Amino acid sequence: MSNDPLLQPFQLKHLTLRNRIIVTSHEPAYPEDGMPKDRYRAYTVERAKGGVALTMTAGSAAVSKDSPPVFNNLLAYKDEIVPWIRQMTDAVHDEGAAIMIQLTHLGRRTRWDKGDWLPVVAPSHHREAAHRAFPKKLEDWDIERIIKDFADAAERMKAGGMDGVELEAYGHLIDQFTSPLTNELDGPYGGSLDNRLRFCFDVFKAMRERVGNDFILGVRYTADECLPGGTGKAEGLEISRRLKESGLIDYLNVIRGHIDTDPGLTDVIPIQGMASAPHLDFAGDVRAATKFPTFHAAKIQDVATARHAIAAGKVDMIGMTRAHMTDPHIVRKIMEKREDDIRPCVGANYCLDRIYQGGLAFCIHNAATGREETMPHRIPKAAVRKKVVIVGAGPAGLEAARVSAERGHEVVVLEAANNPGGQIRLTAQSERRREMISIIDWRMSQCEKLGVSFRFNTWAEADTVLAEAPDVVIVATGGLPHTEVLSKGNELVVSSWDIISGDVKPGTNVLVFDDAGDHAGLQAAEFLAKAGAKVEIMTPDRSFAPEVMAMNLVPYMRSLQKLDVKFTVTYRLEAAEKSGNQIVAHVGSDYGGIAKQQTFDQIVVNHGTIPLDDLYFELKPGSRNLGEVSYDELIVGSPQSVERNPQGAYQLFRIGDAVAARNTHAAIYDALRLAKDL
Ligand SMILES: Cc1cc2nc3c(=O)[nH]c(=O)nc-3n(C[C@H](O)[C@H](O)[C@H](O)COP(=O)(O)O)c2cc1C
Ligand code: SF4
Repeated sequence: MSNDPLLQPFQLKHLTLRNRIIVTSHEPAYPEDGMPKDRYRAYTVERAKGGVALTMTAGSAAVSKDSPPVFNNLLAYKDEIVPWIRQMTDAVHDEGAAIMIQLTHLGRRTRWDKGDWLPVVAPSHHREAAHRAFPKKLEDWDIERIIKDFADAAERMKAGGMDGVELEAYGHLIDQFTSPLTNELDGPYGGSLDNRLRFCFDVFKAMRERVGNDFILGVRYTADECLPGGTGKAEGLEISRRLKESGLIDYLNVIRGHIDTDPGLTDVIPIQGMASAPHLDFAGDVRAATKFPTFHAAKIQDVATARHAIAAGKVDMIGMTRAHMTDPHIVRKIMEKREDDIRPCVGANYCLDRIYQGGLAFCIHNAATGREETMPHRIPKAAVRKKVVIVGAGPAGLEAARVSAERGHEVVVLEAANNPGGQIRLTAQSERRREMISIIDWRMSQCEKLGVSFRFNTWAEADTVLAEAPDVVIVATGGLPHTEVLSKGNELVVSSWDIISGDVKPGTNVLVFDDAGDHAGLQAAEFLAKAGAKVEIMTPDRSFAPEVMAMNLVPYMRSLQKLDVKFTVTYRLEAAEKSGNQIVAHVGSDYGGIAKQQTFDQIVVNHGTIPLDDLYFELKPGSRNLGEVSYDELIVGSPQSVERNPQGAYQLFRIGDAVAARNTHAAIYDALRLAKDL
C-alpha cells in the first residue's frame, strides 16, 4: 500500500473514505427542472471514476419554496427528486466513492422574482448587496416551517441513498442567524450567541431525529467572517467547539470570510493571481482547537499543496473542487504516478463566474467538463491513422494537436511565432494572469509526450501545408486586433494588445475605448495606469467589462480604483482628430443627443479581433469539404462527412478566433469536438 498521505483512508464515523481528497459542494447549475438528470449524473460520476474519496454534490440544494434557485440549484423540497438522487448515488457508489449533498435555505441570498415569487426571508431587513433583495424579517411560523423543511429534505436525501448531508452555514440563512450583522431578532433566536446559534442546532436536531445515527451530518460554516462587527475568530472557534460538543454532527468544513459581496466571495474562493491555500492554516487552527474531523477547500490547486495539508495535519480531508472540474482524474493519476499529466486548474474562475450569470459551469480549458454525455475526458484511439497538419499553436491549435495525437494520428503544428500560446501568452503578461500560461504549458508537455512535431518560426503558406501531404488541415491562426471602428481617425489609435505587449509606450492621458468588454481592455488600462497614465475607460454598453464577470472583476477593481481609473458607461467614441501632439476624441452616445469632445494624448481601442483567415481561403478550393463543417455531425459527435469536392486532397477546418473572435473556452471546445472524431 502507498505511503502517500493523500492516499490513506479516513474513517468518518461508520463511513470509510478511500483517500483524503474530496470535491466540496458546488452547484454547477446543471439541474434540469431542479432535478439532477443525466448531465448532472454524468458529471458527478466522472469524478467518482477518477478516484475521489467523497464527492459532495449540489451546492446549496434548496429545502424550501421561499429559497428559490438563484443559480439553478436542485430543489430538495420536492419528493420527485428522490429517484434522481438514487440514480446518481448508485452510480457513484458503483465507482467506489462516497457521496453527500449540501442542503440550504438561502435566506436573503436570493431573489423574490424567481420560483414561486415568495418574499425573501432573513432574520433582519438588511439587503445582501450581491442579490439585492430586501428581505422580510422572519416570523415564528417561518422558523418552524423552515426547520421542518430541512428535516424533510434530509429524509429525502437519505431515501435517495446519500451517505450524508452537509448544511451550508456561510452567507446563507443559518449563518444569517449566527452573524450579529444580519440577525436583528429578539429571543429566542436573536441576541446572545446561544440564541443566534439556536436555529442551527434546532435544524440539526430535527434532521438527526429524522435520519438517525447511521447517516453523516456535517456543516460548512464561517469561523471568521472577517468583517467588523461580524463573527470573529475567537467567536468562530467557540462556535466550532459548540458544534462538535452538540454531538449532532460528524465533521466541520471550515470557511473563512463572508460572501455577501463579490469581493468577499472572491476572498473566500480565491481566483488566479491570488494566494494559494490562503485559509489552510486557519482551518488547521480549527482542527487543533476542536480535535474533530475537519474539511477545507480554497484554492488548493496542486497535489503538492494538498499533500502538505494532510501531511502537516491541517485538515483530515482536503477539497480540490475546481481542480476536479479541470481534471476529474486527479486521484487516478496520483495512483498511477502520473502527477505531471494532471491538467492544472489555472484559477480562471470561468466556471463560477458563469453560474452567477445564469450559465452552466464550464472549465475554461477542459471542454469535456459538464459535457460528459458527449465529450470524452479520455480520448479513444481512431481506427485509421491520418496525417493532421495544424496551423497555429494558440489554445485552439494546441488542443486540436493534443486530441489528434491522442487519437493516434501523425500531427504537425506550424507556428509563425517563436513560441506557442497565441493570445494566452499575451494575457499572461499581466502578473495576475500569469497562471493562464499553464493552459499552454500543459498542452505542450502532453503533445511532446504524444510525439507531435512542432515547427516554430514558420509562416505557413498553402505550399508549406501541402508539402506535408495532409489528410486533414486545421487552421487555428487566431486573429489580430480590430481597431478600425471610428468614422474618422482610425490611424490615430492603438490596440489593447499594443499596450499589453509593450510594443507601444504608454501615454500620459489615455482613453481606453472598450466595447469588447473582455480582459484585454482592463489589462491594458491597468498597464497604462501602473505606468503613471491618467486613464479613462469608456464603453457604449450599460456596464463595463461584461465578459470579465463578477469575481474576475474584483482584483481589477482593487487595482484600478487605487490607480484612480475613471469608468464611463453608455458613451461611444465616434471619431478622433489630431490637434498638435494631442488627440481630440469625438464622443457620442447610442442613446442620442450627445456630441462632446475630450482631449487625450493616446487612445486605445479594445474591439476584439479580426480572423487571420487568408491561409484558410487559399486552401479551401483544394479541400474535399471546401471548408464546410456539418454542424449536425459536430453537435451529435460523429465524424465530418461533407464531400463538396470529391477531387479534393484533404479535409479542411478552421477553429477558434480564426473563425470569429470568441474566448479561450470556445476555442478549446471547437478543437475538442472536431478533433475527437477525426
Ligand atoms: C461552480 C461552483 C459552484 C459552487 N457552489 C457552491 C455552493 O453552492 N456551496 C458551497 O458551499 N460552495 C460552492 N462552491 C465552492 C466550492 O465548494 C469550493 O469551496 C471552492 O471552489 C474553493 O475550492 P477550490 O479552490 O478547491 O475550488 C462552488 C464552486 C464552484 C466552482
Ligand atoms: S475555469 Fe478556471 S478556475 Fe474554473 S475549473 Fe477551470 S481552470 Fe479552474
